[in-house]
Amino acid sequence: MVQFPSLPDAVRAHYEQYVYPQFPLWASVKICDTYALNLDAWWAWFNGEKLPEQEQKILLAGCGSFSPYPTAIANPAAQITALDLSNANLRRAKLHNWMHGYFKVDFIQGDITSAPDLDSLKGQRFHFIDCYGVLHHIPDVIAALNALHSLLKTGGLLRIMVYSQGARRSAQAIRTALRMLGVHTLSELKRLCRKAPDGSRFRDYLDATPEADFDSGLADLFLHPYARTYTLEQLLETLEATSFEPLKFIHWGALPDIASEIKRVQKIEKSNEFFTNFILFTGRKNDAEIRAEWQRIKSRKDPMIALNPVIQRSLPRLPFIPLNPEPKLGFTNPAITLKSQRLLARFRTPVRKSALKPADCNQVEQYLQALFLIEMASPSLSL
Ligand SMILES: C[S@@+](CC[C@H](N)C(=O)[O-])C[C@H]1O[C@@H](n2cnc3c(N)ncnc32)[C@H](O)[C@@H]1O
Repeated sequence: MVQFPSLPDAVRAHYEQYVYPQFPLWASVKICDTYALNLDAWWAWFNGEKLPEQEQKILLAGCGSFSPYPTAIANPAAQITALDLSNANLRRAKLHNWMHGYFKVDFIQGDITSAPDLDSLKGQRFHFIDCYGVLHHIPDVIAALNALHSLLKTGGLLRIMVYSQGARRSAQAIRTALRMLGVHTLSELKRLCRKAPDGSRFRDYLDATPEADFDSGLADLFLHPYARTYTLEQLLETLEATSFEPLKFIHWGALPDIASEIKRVQKIEKSNEFFTNFILFTGRKNDAEIRAEWQRIKSRKDPMIALNPVIQRSLPRLPFIPLNPEPKLGFTNPAITLKSQRLLARFRTPVRKSALKPADCNQVEQYLQALFLIEMASPSLSL
């Protein structure tokens, strides 16, 4: 009798065969472009506290072959653990980090679903877990989210990216059609891609999708053994079932306020015009009061404003050298002119909000929303 692998085994085999993503080892990332991966910045955003650098702990849950590198750039002092099912991805990620001089990341092979039981993770808790592009490949997503919940510290943050039904509609339809045609190997798939006629839905999709330009991207799109999609309602139900609450969406076009973004997406989904995957920060429901207390303190008292540590490291000493971080939060970044570089430089040492000149307040607010600046309770205020 033919033995078929279980779905998790098939997913692992897929990523052993197709290292993902497929960047050359020399591909580098500018320090300033990692500002949205900085733990200090997000911890201050949601919890209003400064985290001692040496205590910071980050877990990359389903790290793939590349993400440990930008995360290490963004968080040089943090203890970073990179977990993945696939040894091939882990080997490649380690090599990439080493090639670029980052040697501190711990690489662990294992399944997120049973991660809390792994010897190397037993008893560990993290401030930030990044699970980007992974949950939609896990058949038992509830078990995976429960596992991640148990690995978070109090106030801990989980960033997720999952496929939305709208964004993946064409990819899923093509994937189903290829399965029905019995196309299971990359060589067969590439042959079909070469033959796809101009003007066909398949050709249009290939041309519009950067993933289709490289082998492991093509395999991820169309040959993946398990790839599900989510409507917003399904995503919110899944989070609810695992005691997470959505905190902030950061996909392209997302509104800053969570409730408004939920309403906006629900409306666009109804007209089948939502074409973005979901990217969002979530937190444990049991920490809601900590976050709410920070929001109350922020508006009533006098918080400190500081530079995002990544922007601080990137801010040129010579103000005529431009600083231009790539947008990462779903909107175009406010421009950083020579004059505003001088304004940003004033926050190398934290400044009380009440000490801002009225003329600077508007720009400071824009830089706060863009995460170039961060706000936190001053040490004299206890949350
Ligand atoms: C699409 S890749 C995303 C990689 C990375 N997070 C990124 O954004 O570049 C999905 C990754 O999740 C890993 N993965 C899938 N299921 C997993 C599981 N149950 N436990 C751990 N890793 C898993 C795969 O091996 C693969 O490296």
